[in-house]
Amino acid sequence: MTLQAIRYKDGALSVLDQLKLPSKSTYVDIKSVNDGWNVIKTMKVRGAPAIALVGSLSVVVEIYEQEFEINQAFIDLVDKHLTYLTSARPTAVNMRKTASYLMEFLNNLSRDVASPQELKLNFISEVERLLKKDTDDNISVGNYGASHIMSNPSCTKLNGKASVLTHCNTGSLATTGYGTALGVIRSLFSQGNLDHAYCTETRPYNQGARLTAYELVYEKIPATLVADSMVSLLFKEKSVAAVVVGADRVAKNGDTANKIGTYQIAIAAKYHQIPFYIAAPFSSIDRNTESGDDIEIEIRPQEELANINGQRIAAEGICCWNPAFDVTPHQLITGGIITELGVFRADEIANYLEKSEKL
Ligand code: MRU
Repeated sequence: MTLQAIRYKDGALSVLDQLKLPSKSTYVDIKSVNDGWNVIKTMKVRGAPAIALVGSLSVVVEIYEQEFEINQAFIDLVDKHLTYLTSARPTAVNMRKTASYLMEFLNNLSRDVASPQELKLNFISEVERLLKKDTDDNISVGNYGASHIMSNPSCTKLNGKASVLTHCNTGSLATTGYGTALGVIRSLFSQGNLDHAYCTETRPYNQGARLTAYELVYEKIPATLVADSMVSLLFKEKSVAAVVVGADRVAKNGDTANKIGTYQIAIAAKYHQIPFYIAAPFSSIDRNTESGDDIEIEIRPQEELANINGQRIAAEGICCWNPAFDVTPHQLITGGIITELGVFRADEIANYLEKSEKL
């Protein structure tokens, strides 16, 4: 049984408060769209796929007991809620893509469905389907990524096994289960092909030290934590076969926004000739974003950089710049983009968008 970030059943939703991990495992009830928006904004829930699913489920919770007179009233209300939820975190594209997918689903369905009650039940089932699809997709991402790494002779030259570095948290806590980049590590491990996993601390919010390290320990995967500033030396001294990280948004040209610090890891990987992979479902790949220049980077509060666990560590009075993400140019994504449909060259990812589901 893996860690469960999202608990949902028949209109009841709660999420694991990731701000309290690893010291406390506390679930927070989500009873409305406002509750959903707040847990996303404050990062009690984080990770692009988890944000989209908690957002969509918070709409389900809100409308679960409500009754509507006409289809359009239901559609307009869902539209209003989804639009609001997309405003919580601007860089991760999954919530925005899920919102437009669900609106298209409702608008198409309302032509065939007579009653708002029927429309509502179909909407709920569709969100529930997306919940399950996320875990299934992640398992495919994990397996494709593990095979690709193992098929590269330079990745496994030491003992036939691969060591992998990851950044931030992309595991069960960032998704509905299994994870994306952490899913690749999970697959390598379950196939007996993982030598060692390295995870970065991921300053300033420490998703690596608090969450990825927690998941790796929980799953008994051989792993070591390093500070972000140690990555180049790690590449020089230890035999790291591949870097695998997640994505908050992949642009059409393959440029990828992910947790701040990803870009510098990609540069160091290129210098050391270590394949650098993005692991992301198609729900993170955006046909409406031409390149990384078009991705809005979320700027988080200064306190998240100046404080750790509410304790100030930076000198009083210093000004902090706290971008939550950076963009890795596609030229640095040398291993490829690992998706639920296979592993593709970053600069060719747009060609595969049509083959994926609309989401
Ligand atoms: O700010 P966060 O913690 O939401 O950032 C998370 C990341 O950058 C992840 O790598 C990304 O969302 C992919 S999660 C499968």
